Amino acid sequence: LKEEAASSIESVSTLEQLKDLRVRYLGKKGELTAILRGMKDVSPEERPVIGSLANEIRSFLEQEIAAKEDQLEREALEDRLREEKLDVTLPGKPYPVGSIHPLNAVIEQVEDIFIGMGFEVAEGPEVETDSYNFEALNIPKDHPARDMQDSFYITPEILLRTHTSPVQVRSMEAKEGRVPVKIICPGKVYRRDDDDATHSHQFTQVEGLVVDRGIAMSELHGILATFAEKLFGMKLETRLRPSFFPFTEPSVEMDISCVQCGGDGCRMCKNSGWIEILGAGMVHPRVLEGAGYDSERYTGFAFGMGPDRIALLKYGIDDIRHFYTNDLRFLRQFQSV
Ligand code: PHE
Repeated sequence: LKEEAASSIESVSTLEQLKDLRVRYLGKKGELTAILRGMKDVSPEERPVIGSLANEIRSFLEQEIAAKEDQLEREALEDRLREEKLDVTLPGKPYPVGSIHPLNAVIEQVEDIFIGMGFEVAEGPEVETDSYNFEALNIPKDHPARDMQDSFYITPEILLRTHTSPVQVRSMEAKEGRVPVKIICPGKVYRRDDDDATHSHQFTQVEGLVVDRGIAMSELHGILATFAEKLFGMKLETRLRPSFFPFTEPSVEMDISCVQCGGDGCRMCKNSGWIEILGAGMVHPRVLEGAGYDSERYTGFAFGMGPDRIALLKYGIDDIRHFYTNDLRFLRQFQSV
């Protein structure tokens, strides 16, 4: 029995089989157990001899099984280590990595700068009513300014917004006469333009509005000049030129001293000159009153800029249509932005 058991233990190759063997010899109904149980039928003289022999065999088998178990476990571990070994020198699988769209990169940067100056980000609908898009902004039906913003009408009263300025009105209404109002609103706008290198029927704007007691042109200039320097990451000259918007009075356009930008940042142009970057002005009293603000107590300024224009400038891009045609060769150039 001892030899037979020893050789079957020897030949076992899995832990499963070894367990079966243990049951077969040492289990409750096992062969050796049967012998030990049969001791009562053995004569008293033979009992000690057979008993000690059986015990010896039992501890021998237990040892053998334990040793085999050790060996099988070690082998299993080695197999796993061999199978799961990683060759860290093999070339990896390349996973496609997306990139931030240059327009979104500019919008996020503009948001960060204004949030840093205490502004909140507001949003408004792209499908807007004529009254928010025009009337509440002091642009009545027959006003020539409507021609500057040739529109996509859905019904006579509903259109795709031509600028983000309706969000000024919506933000003031939501504040119900309380101050300060200090918001920026980034978003898409639509105009009936023929697409070319500098025009797109859909483009982006970031609107800004501050309303409080005692807001003057100096606040407008200070905040927008600080913004421009942060945006281009350098000292800049800024100037305000008189302009016209129906919803601001006086109205200005802000220019920055000419910058040229490339992959390594921006610097001053060789020849001096100016670049227009935004429109702005003091909020027209009629717009304040229409949105529930007493124009004797409160004043404010508003501004609007085009991230498309800024992105063209910042990244040295020559055609606005690149932003909207999703050519991966174009978009991949912004993976480090
Ligand atoms: N809404 C104007 C435009 O689209 C820009 C602007 C916004 C000007 C706010 C002044 C104040 O042309």
